[in-house]
Amino acid sequence: MSAVETPRFSQERLEEIQALVARYPGARSALLPVLHMAQEDFGYLSLDVQRHVAEVLGLTLIQVREVVTFYTMFREQPCGTYLMEVCTNASCMLNGADRLVRHMCDKLGIKVGETTPDGMFTVTEVECAGACGGAPVVQINNEYHENVDEAYIDRFIDEARGKGGKA
Ligand code: FES
Repeated sequence: MSAVETPRFSQERLEEIQALVARYPGARSALLPVLHMAQEDFGYLSLDVQRHVAEVLGLTLIQVREVVTFYTMFREQPCGTYLMEVCTNASCMLNGADRLVRHMCDKLGIKVGETTPDGMFTVTEVECAGACGGAPVVQINNEYHENVDEAYIDRFIDEARGKGGKA
């Protein structure tokens, strides 16, 4: 049985973290940006990654988990190349977000929270994205898409598939 590799920050990243920590009164204050770095480097925050973050910052695992489990922007599971987060809060819901979620899931053949078998798309629901004027809003990776309808989603998915899964 081969050993599973434990995730480790690169030396360059560790130096970046050290510089960041030096700007705060305590290492714990740097937790949010370091978790963003970890998610960028490792794709998602597995328990092993969270342990590594705790070790690097001199925190307990529970201190890291308190933050990871509070914010929806942190992922504990791998997700598709395109993470499609549909806001289903009041303004978006009134403008068809629930219909949109159903449409996306039907088109992709998955349920909310699932990833397509080819690893390309994950659909999730999130609370207010803070762009209510453009409801319904879908955040795809780091970009906001506003006033989204079914035709827009169809075009996006078809174009993404045409690119062969490259975001
Ligand atoms: S309710 Fe959807 S962005 Fe605010």
